[in-house]
Amino acid sequence: MLKVFLISALLLLTSQAAKYQRTVKYDNEILIRCPTGVEGMKEFLQRDDVDVWRVTPDGLADIRINKNLIQGTDIILKQCTTIADVEELVQQFENMTASVRLHGQAQQEWHEEYHRYDEIYDWYKELAEQCGERCQFNSSIGGSLEGRVMPAFHVGSPAVGKIYFQCQIHAREWISGATCMYIADSLTNNPEGLDMISKVLDDVEFIFVPLVNPDGYEYTWTGDRLWRKNRRENSGSACIGVDLNRNYNDHWNEGGSSSNPCSETYHGVSAASEPETQNTQSYFKTNGPIIGAIDWHSYSQLILRPYGWTNQDSPDETQLKEIGDEMSEKIKAVFGETYTSQKSIGLYPTSGTASDWFYGEDATSTNGAYRAAGYTVELRDTGSYGFLLPPEQIIPTGMENLAAVLEFAQRLIDDPIPNPNNSHKK
Ligand SMILES: *[C@@H]1O[C@H](CO)[C@@H](O)[C@H](O)[C@H]1NC(C)=O
Ligand SMILES: *[C@@H]1O[C@H](CO)[C@@H](O)[C@H](O)[C@H]1NC(C)=O
Ligand SMILES: *[C@@H]1O[C@H](CO)[C@@H](O)[C@H](O)[C@H]1NC(C)=O
Ligand SMILES: [Zn+2]
Repeated sequence: MLKVFLISALLLLTSQAAKYQRTVKYDNEILIRCPTGVEGMKEFLQRDDVDVWRVTPDGLADIRINKNLIQGTDIILKQCTTIADVEELVQQFENMTASVRLHGQAQQEWHEEYHRYDEIYDWYKELAEQCGERCQFNSSIGGSLEGRVMPAFHVGSPAVGKIYFQCQIHAREWISGATCMYIADSLTNNPEGLDMISKVLDDVEFIFVPLVNPDGYEYTWTGDRLWRKNRRENSGSACIGVDLNRNYNDHWNEGGSSSNPCSETYHGVSAASEPETQNTQSYFKTNGPIIGAIDWHSYSQLILRPYGWTNQDSPDETQLKEIGDEMSEKIKAVFGETYTSQKSIGLYPTSGTASDWFYGEDATSTNGAYRAAGYTVELRDTGSYGFLLPPEQIIPTGMENLAAVLEFAQRLIDDPIPNPNNSHKK
């Protein structure tokens, strides 16, 4: 704990310059909640000018939309309820994070605040340096579109295999990156001296790619707090960005993604067209065998297993369901929070997602003896703050998900999923 505190204190000295500013205002935007099952809603949800923040397992969608767009859409007006004014929500978040900075400085702790790209990069580097031989910092697995390097952090030893985590693929989901840091810190420094941590680290190496979308993430600090995609300038369109989590080379463009560059789920011009997608795919493939992988998102509190692109069960459905259900149990045991475990398509169809790719054919083809159990975890909360989760929830979110991660790792150590196409069968 002391070491963690020291590097945190050190980094704080350099972090004061990291100012947050916002140029995009959301003056006419509201958050509405609509039942997904009623007539006309399906078409509405597929419009490229609505931003679906989440869909609940029992069929409600939270949608950010410009007030002017819903005028004249009768079904929408009758079925949906307004839950917030978006500009006010964002300001509330900004006021909350500002007060952490003003009042918390004396014994400021790293995990009680959100951090910029540079700070996160340095933090992982320091974490690896003070950890020594059990850890490794890769300063660059490749560059983003705007030329920011994407680092990776490793801890543990791969006696059985490796577990791969990627974070912050969606820029506005700040709790994703923060939770990954909490988990990386806990695994590395084991401040509570948990036996389970040292045991797991003897068998698996954890790989973190903490900043999958560095350009988009920086833009949420310097321009638009609610930005989701990367910062691709799309040819022939004034709209910016590709949704990286629809851009993976697995059943790309087979539903649940958009070909309109203005959509929040724009899948790009081709599978893995984006450097951020390419870098993560290639890092995953050169670091096998990977026995499990999680793409960390927010919000909704869900544990999603394959597939997103088809209703069919995966061949490992029984095991993948058991793992997801058990992670959910472990989370609940910490603070009583409910994370619903379900198939990804049970929420809504998606294709070209990272977690389907982890488990899919392309990734498996180079993964040696095993096939990665691939999940998307949607972190806190269930809609009170959404993407604008107060920083005081970083540590509790980290704690409950650390419990899930340890369960995830242990189950896969005990029973990794075999690669059905591996020629060197035991
Ligand atoms: C945020 O703080 C400003 C300045 O103190 C205040 O005017 C504003 O009402 C606050 N907004 C919210 C949503 O709390
Ligand atoms: C970091 O990752 C890149 C991409 O896989 C690789 O080329 C490089 O050798 C790695 N660096 C270290 C220090 O392992
Ligand atoms: C294994 O190989 C077969 C035949 O090429 C292919 O159809 C199947 O999708 C592969 N399975 C995986 C998990 O890659
Ligand atoms: Zn997301």
